[in-house]
Amino acid sequence: MQHVIDPTPYKKVALFGGTYNNWSALEHTVADALRRGAEAIWFLGDAGGFGPLPNRTVDLLRSLPVRSIQGNYDDSVGNSKEDCACGYTDPRDNHFAQISYDYTLANTSTDHRTWLAALPAQARIQVGAHRVLLCHGSPRQVNEFLWESTTPLGFVEWLCKTEKTDLIACTHTGIHWERRLEDGRGIINVGAIGRPANDGTQNVWYAMLEDAGDRVRSTFIPVAYDVTQMSDDMRREGLPEEFIETLNTGWWTTCLEVLPGRERMRGQH
Ligand SMILES: [Fe+2]
Repeated sequence: MQHVIDPTPYKKVALFGGTYNNWSALEHTVADALRRGAEAIWFLGDAGGFGPLPNRTVDLLRSLPVRSIQGNYDDSVGNSKEDCACGYTDPRDNHFAQISYDYTLANTSTDHRTWLAALPAQARIQVGAHRVLLCHGSPRQVNEFLWESTTPLGFVEWLCKTEKTDLIACTHTGIHWERRLEDGRGIINVGAIGRPANDGTQNVWYAMLEDAGDRVRSTFIPVAYDVTQMSDDMRREGLPEEFIETLNTGWWTTCLEVLPGRERMRGQH
């Protein structure tokens, strides 16, 4: 699988994951990142799923100043696979994931599927003098769930050392968090912009990395977008009311059986 290496020592880089067909959130996120002076913007994969009108999101990803790596969803849609390979094990999670996947696959153009299939698996970039590895689930598995409550510091240190990097940025879970060692090395899950972070607000989240000399400073940034427009589009496309409820309430209603106990306790369902 192709890996991208960009040795440019950026001062400020925006990272976002999981657009899940939310074209409005994508527009607002990129505009916000540019307004804040991001020199590079990276999408960590999973263009489709959950939301409406998949071609709109891929159109934007291909036309905006964004570079992309491949998520499990992009690999599945790009190669017309049977399912999203999201990594769910519970039947209810898989039921709703399949509705999203079948809809997304059926409504993504051939040209966009070719583009998704050809995305690189990982990228290595520089923020100042610091090495940052961009991946989807984890560097070792595209659909590995890295949750805050199940990622101990010892694992963070081992993974950074194994991957020969200072920072690992990932997504896939849909909930943002970071864990750092004292020397600044660490893992940052940038979250997803396609649906709220199961926090009871309509905002979605992305991450900004900045060179702070001896370490990389990271900030999670909330983004507001047109929830009414997205809800209307989803209804028109016949997508489940459960998905629309999540966008409006900020609480996950589906695909949450995969959450570890601590993350699930923070939600309402
Ligand atoms: Fe994913």
